[in-house]
Amino acid sequence: MSKILVTGGAGFIGSNFVHYLLENTDHSVTVLDSLTYAGNRASLDGLPADRFSFVQGDICDAHIVDELFATHDTVVHYAAESHNDNSLDNPRPFLDTNIVGTYTLLEAARKHDTRFHHISTDEVYGDLELDDPARFTEATPYNPSSPYSSTKAGSDLLVRAWVRSFGVRATISNCSNNYGPYQHVEKFIPRQITNVLRGIRPKLYGAGENVRDWIHADDHSRAIMTIVDKGVIGETYLVGADGEKNNKEVIELILTTMGQPSDAYDHVTDRAGHDMRYAIDSNKLRTELGWMPEYGDFETGLAATIDWYTANEAWWAPAKDATEAFYATKGQ
Ligand code: NAD
Ligand code: DAU
Repeated sequence: MSKILVTGGAGFIGSNFVHYLLENTDHSVTVLDSLTYAGNRASLDGLPADRFSFVQGDICDAHIVDELFATHDTVVHYAAESHNDNSLDNPRPFLDTNIVGTYTLLEAARKHDTRFHHISTDEVYGDLELDDPARFTEATPYNPSSPYSSTKAGSDLLVRAWVRSFGVRATISNCSNNYGPYQHVEKFIPRQITNVLRGIRPKLYGAGENVRDWIHADDHSRAIMTIVDKGVIGETYLVGADGEKNNKEVIELILTTMGQPSDAYDHVTDRAGHDMRYAIDSNKLRTELGWMPEYGDFETGLAATIDWYTANEAWWAPAKDATEAFYATKGQ
């Protein structure tokens, strides 16, 4: 039984991980989260007070970080500025949180000899062509495209350097696109589901041929606990569930699952520098650590996600109008 500190635990994947930990392990959990626009305290409502606590604070604040590292055995680091479209609009917070924040945590891990797991993204590898049979592996060279992905790449390199130079006990995982409950309505799948629920036509960037490799957030959580328990210090593990689909397929599936005509959406201005395809080869995690995804079927997971947003309008409604107003300024 450990005391686990989860940074960014009020965000999408972090909150799913906290629920997973409390439901499936005996560990106690502290969340450190500054509650940016992307953090939602309500995602952590109802958790057992004897095993869960919440600290509102910034990962760039060395004082608060030091206090928390002194009293926790393991840190799982999710906190980040995570949205590509925002990084094109204003990159600065991405540098602060993703680079300086990760540096601040690494210095505390070094001082307290804390087991540290760094959550990262497949976007550090750049993108693949649609007709390229290749998938990303742990050996793929870094080639990020956006301000978001370049700051995540920078944070990964800091972790590698702190392992090699200072002996920090860290692992890294790079995961593909997650879906599931508690995802902010700025992101593709929740945006389209909540558009349909609001009577707004879904919005597809460009021609919609871009491919993302979808994985349910619960499968990601299971992968992270597997790496925390069994991963080799200094190693990187790719996490993916063989879920490649193009955006046009996904938007049409959302519409038909919600009882709408499959063509009831708009093509809007494409994202600048839009990555074409991500695809993960997760064989290392599967063969060396024994992880397997449990959501084999994207259609079933998507239907459950649609049901969750339909039942939880009170959770997403406060962010919906401002999100759509932001996209409208960009013709998206
Ligand atoms: P999110 O935007 O939903 O949540 C980020 C959380 O971090 C929020 O709760 C926010 O309040 C918090 N935060 C931001 N800046 C902070 C700071 N300076 N100090 C403390 N807390 C801060 O993000 P997400 O989609 O859940 O992604 C979580 C992590 O997983 C990120 O590191 C991201 O790069 C990575 N990742 C995401 C995906 C995906 O599909 N969403 C896939 C692979 C990897
Ligand atoms: O690959 C992992 C990454 O997945 C994570 O590192 C990021 O944090 C996470 O946000 C996600 O990045 P994407 O940019 O792929 O996700 P997003 O949900 O923003 O967009 C998914 C795809 O859908 C992308 O090709 C852009 C497109 N899109 C997005 C929106 C918001 C649309 O076509 N319409 C939209 O309205």
